[in-house]
Amino acid sequence: MNNTTRVYESIFEMLPNEENPTPLVRINRLNPAPDFPLYAKLEWMNPFGSLKDRAAFEMLKDLEDRGEVGGGRGLVEPTSGNTGISLAGMASVRGYPMRAVVPERVPLEKKILLKIVGAELDVVADALCPVPGQSGGTINLAKTHAKAQKDRYVMPNQYENENNVRAHLRTTGPEIWRQTEGKITHLFVALGTCGTVTGCSTFLKERNPSIKIVAVQPTEGHDVPGLRNLKELEVTKLYDPKLIDEVLEIDYELAYQRVLDLSRKEGLLSGPSGALVFEGARRIAERERVGFGVMIFADNVFKYVSSMLRHLPQLGAGIAPPELTEVSVTF
Ligand SMILES: Cc1ncc(COP(=O)(O)O)c(C=O)c1O
Repeated sequence: MNNTTRVYESIFEMLPNEENPTPLVRINRLNPAPDFPLYAKLEWMNPFGSLKDRAAFEMLKDLEDRGEVGGGRGLVEPTSGNTGISLAGMASVRGYPMRAVVPERVPLEKKILLKIVGAELDVVADALCPVPGQSGGTINLAKTHAKAQKDRYVMPNQYENENNVRAHLRTTGPEIWRQTEGKITHLFVALGTCGTVTGCSTFLKERNPSIKIVAVQPTEGHDVPGLRNLKELEVTKLYDPKLIDEVLEIDYELAYQRVLDLSRKEGLLSGPSGALVFEGARRIAERERVGFGVMIFADNVFKYVSSMLRHLPQLGAGIAPPELTEVSVTF
């Protein structure tokens, strides 16, 4: 592995760490406060396209170390897409089977991507992010598979697995500290399993307790795949409110507008999750005026073309079949 020439012997060597971090890119035209620089951490530069590569690898490595996978045994996981894509990509390279159980509202692009990287797929009527305790829900179905087919599947369970947090303690947090030379004053992050916020906050606050951790959440009933509103967080055991200084709620429709702004003004083709985080960061920069912010941009927009079309139907004018550009299209 050579991080200067970027020649790698396998996809696993590409995974980020302090010596090989994902990039930080400064926001220029869209930052309202010149003394509060904002940097986007481009997690789509992970090999399978999202920040979830970090947690997926840490969980997979732990299962390998404990001899839980191999010999025909692989993984089953409830996922709103990104974790499944990361796990399936890595499992396929290693030669393990991977079964992803996804809610039906997950964008078609993510479902197809899961198949492209080799996952078996169960599509289930469930909330956009998996909900616990629902018979027939994604979490229960994944657990049922893991129980009924013990010789074929083990479930990493990203919502309870400490390795999800450890991934960010070991990589994302140290990368941000080093890349900002300790200048960071605010970290802006969205909430899914909360592995990212818990791991990064623990690491950064240990280095400098005055660093503010700002969670940005979409309004209830949102359509931003991968994210949770605080009211939906009972599913995850990795959420610790003591590690979050402020929670900002942003109208999720605005996230879709910000995808366009970031693409057109900054050349950053962020997905709606990063765009929501950006809107939260922009408001804090405007309010505080002085600081140094890092925003986690979890993935890019390519997986969300159908979501974009649904929320910004004018994008399809003249090129997409009319039924796809109806604002009223629900799913
Ligand atoms: C697009 C996107 N953004 C943000 C997150 C949140 O990350 P975490 O699960 O570490 O809270 C996820 C998680 O799946 C995601 O898919």
